[in-house]
Amino acid sequence: MENKRPTWSSRYSFILAAIGSAVGLGNIWRFPYVMGQNGGAVFLITYVILITTLCFVPLMAELMFGKITKKDCIGAYEQVNTKFKIFGFLNNVTAIIIPSFYFVIGGWIIYYMIKSFVNFNIENPVEYLSNFIQNPYATSISTIIFLFICTFFMARGIKKGIEFVNNYMIPLLAVILIVLIAASLNLPNANLGLEYVFKPDFSKFNSQTVLTAMGQAFFTLSVGTGALLTYGSYIKEDKCIVQSAYTIIFSSILFSVLAGIMIFPAVFSFGLEANSGAGLVFVTLPKVFMQIPHGGIIASAFFILLFCAAITSGISMLEVPCATLVERLKISRLKACIIIFFAVALISIPATLSFGILGNIKLFGKTIFDILDFSASNILLPLNSIILCLIAGWFLKIKGEMIFKNDIFAKIFDIGLKYIVPMVLIIIFYLGLR
Ligand code: TRP
Repeated sequence: MENKRPTWSSRYSFILAAIGSAVGLGNIWRFPYVMGQNGGAVFLITYVILITTLCFVPLMAELMFGKITKKDCIGAYEQVNTKFKIFGFLNNVTAIIIPSFYFVIGGWIIYYMIKSFVNFNIENPVEYLSNFIQNPYATSISTIIFLFICTFFMARGIKKGIEFVNNYMIPLLAVILIVLIAASLNLPNANLGLEYVFKPDFSKFNSQTVLTAMGQAFFTLSVGTGALLTYGSYIKEDKCIVQSAYTIIFSSILFSVLAGIMIFPAVFSFGLEANSGAGLVFVTLPKVFMQIPHGGIIASAFFILLFCAAITSGISMLEVPCATLVERLKISRLKACIIIFFAVALISIPATLSFGILGNIKLFGKTIFDILDFSASNILLPLNSIILCLIAGWFLKIKGEMIFKNDIFAKIFDIGLKYIVPMVLIIIFYLGLR
């Protein structure tokens, strides 16, 4: 069994796949507006400090966990102690719940992308979006198409599927981003947008800024579902794992900042609202596309960009249950992908419909979509990360000296993994539940 396990073709393929996992809707869609709302450069500095120090620790721990055990999530935790199997199971549950709401937005992106190929003539973007998200057929079909694309490529395996997608999509993503930035910076008053994103506004800095930056950093690095553990378990050999981890971290920062540089100059150039939050991509930007020359083509490029970012992240989440089903139940990848397709469809369709016909179904005042988002982002992700650090540090005994040549760095890493990061995460977990 052991030698039949798939591995990455090269270190480069692994890094690219991990970047694919990291760079997603969290970077392109969420980061720019969160940064704008939280004091611009002040938020950016906080975020960069946290992501390169505190968040590096669980990222590294999760990769090492996979690299050492060479197993799927359940197998990996079980190898440490059979009683810990349940934690691997919890990772799998999280890795099913996150796609169940992430893919709803993925479906919207597919719909807008196709719309932009046909004719991007949206007179009233607010009304258009609200009509669309309440349409049970259009939204469900879009979500299913998104899910199908992810499971289709996963079924083709690590090399022919996951590597293939990342090899094409990440470079494409980078090229589109650069072209769109050039277009955006050429608009009149583009500097206002840059000011919004980068000008430090210290009055907006408070404890909430730190918490938001931390949450954003964790989500973007994809820590806490076992996605990195699973990707790490396919590593053949990587002598420079610290370098790999920092490449992933810096790429994620870079793509987030570039997304801000792409979006805000365009938004400000047309005097539009910058803090429309979630509506930025589906309401504010279509207004921009309607007013600029070649707006239809730019809209297509933009939605292709979002599509690539979302697909490569989506695949990384689903690889967790896929590896588990293949290795625990000893079934083929194809069968595992079919099971995952139906399991995720079963939860994501109600989530999709919760913007329309199922909007009245509420628990604690939250719709189905919001419940899935809250339970994954505020409960399961931090919980899994706390467990991961504690088990990796205290039981699997991952040590700084396995990673760093420098004794001081190694020591700091040990203390971070065993004490500091779990404590910080427990505080975040507590605050997130309020
Ligand atoms: N990092 C991705 C983003 O920023 C989302 C993502 C992919 C993720 N895999 C994950 C989040 C695993 C949490 C856990 O959009």
